[in-house]
Amino acid sequence: MKKTIAVFFGGRSTEHDISIITALSSVIKPLELTKKYIVVPVYITKDGQWFSDEKLKDIRLFRGQAIDDFCAKAKPVAVVFDGGMILRKSGLRNKDIRVDIAFPAMHGPYGEDGSLMGLLRMAGIPFVGSDMPASVIAMDKVLAKQVAQANDIPTSKFVFFSKAEFDGSRDVIIKKVISNLTFPQFVKPAHLGSSIGITKVNNTDELSNAIEVATYYDDKIIVEEAVENLVEVTVPIMGNDSLRPSLVERPLAHGDDFFDFDTKYMNGGKKSGGSKQTGAQGYSELPAKLPDSLYQASLDIAQKVYRVVGCEGISRVDLLIDTKSETVYFNEINPLPGSLYAHNWRASGVSSIELVSRLVELAEERFARNKKIETTFSSNFLGQF
Ligand SMILES: Nc1ncnc2c1ncn2[C@@H]1O[C@H](COP(=O)(O)OP(=O)(O)O)[C@@H](O)[C@H]1O
Ligand SMILES: [Mg+2]
Repeated sequence: MKKTIAVFFGGRSTEHDISIITALSSVIKPLELTKKYIVVPVYITKDGQWFSDEKLKDIRLFRGQAIDDFCAKAKPVAVVFDGGMILRKSGLRNKDIRVDIAFPAMHGPYGEDGSLMGLLRMAGIPFVGSDMPASVIAMDKVLAKQVAQANDIPTSKFVFFSKAEFDGSRDVIIKKVISNLTFPQFVKPAHLGSSIGITKVNNTDELSNAIEVATYYDDKIIVEEAVENLVEVTVPIMGNDSLRPSLVERPLAHGDDFFDFDTKYMNGGKKSGGSKQTGAQGYSELPAKLPDSLYQASLDIAQKVYRVVGCEGISRVDLLIDTKSETVYFNEINPLPGSLYAHNWRASGVSSIELVSRLVELAEERFARNKKIETTFSSNFLGQF
């Protein structure tokens, strides 16, 4: 019998729309092409309702108003836990869908950040990608850097604080930042992606404004020293115990100081002069033209980060290279790279179909492995009462 894979996407995240593209084009389509699975879309709206319907596999539903009309008419699914996970449509048992494997295709908060993984763990079903603890660490720019530092992986120098601390005493926070870090600096919400709420600052006034912007998006803020003589690269990696890195890729910015949301997602394919590759990330150099030593160092550091954070399945590790000092700094790790970075995998000989098939296998392998770990032990503790 074919197994049922539920693909989760959308969600209460600023990266809601990007998740739709990842799910429809890089997950659902290739999973269906394998002809091995029944693929069920589970779309989570921006306010957290869950819907499941074949119509949700069609990108046209998400252009314009159609999706709002759909959600207004359709009934949300109920999630039932019975030692597994069931999606119950319209409250009717005869419309139950039993989920054998979950494939989270969500970016950012309430999805990629461990929330969904916690739910899937409680349901006791195999799921693709990193488990809850690694997802939590990866989606917190402070925690991820702290874990890296604890394992002797270089990161840029940083300071972090809460929105409450900043609101309580701006002067103290600004002083803390400027006494620890030199300009230019990057101010970032700790939990978001896609450059939302991120500002590069050159002086104290800009710093203060940028922090205010960041606190609009998050209650944890990180300020970092800018890496100089910068070449940015990214390394997609697959695996649980043994890792397979794909190619080191260099995203190419176009005139902007750094990659913002529009550069990443809106202009891909439209601007001229870019080399080689366009995709979810815009233009890039694939593989990155780096001296052999830096190319190898990037592969090594990326895999080390993947291991110490505890990622499984897939992730993409972003690195910042100071080409003068030849230092490779860890910047961030994305447990669910946009579009799975399928273009990069393809360039290293892994088709989209092979990619999703392998990810499902890795999910099942981990599930089988974890099942062998004893979670109960008998005692006569309750007999005393
Ligand atoms: N410390 C830094 N030094 C230099 N450039 C940086 C630094 N931090 C961020 N950037 C630039 O800002 C971009 C977005 O920051 P990043 O931490 O990757 O956030 P996001 O999660 O939004 O992708 C990076 O791709 C890079 O171009
Ligand atoms: Mg980034």
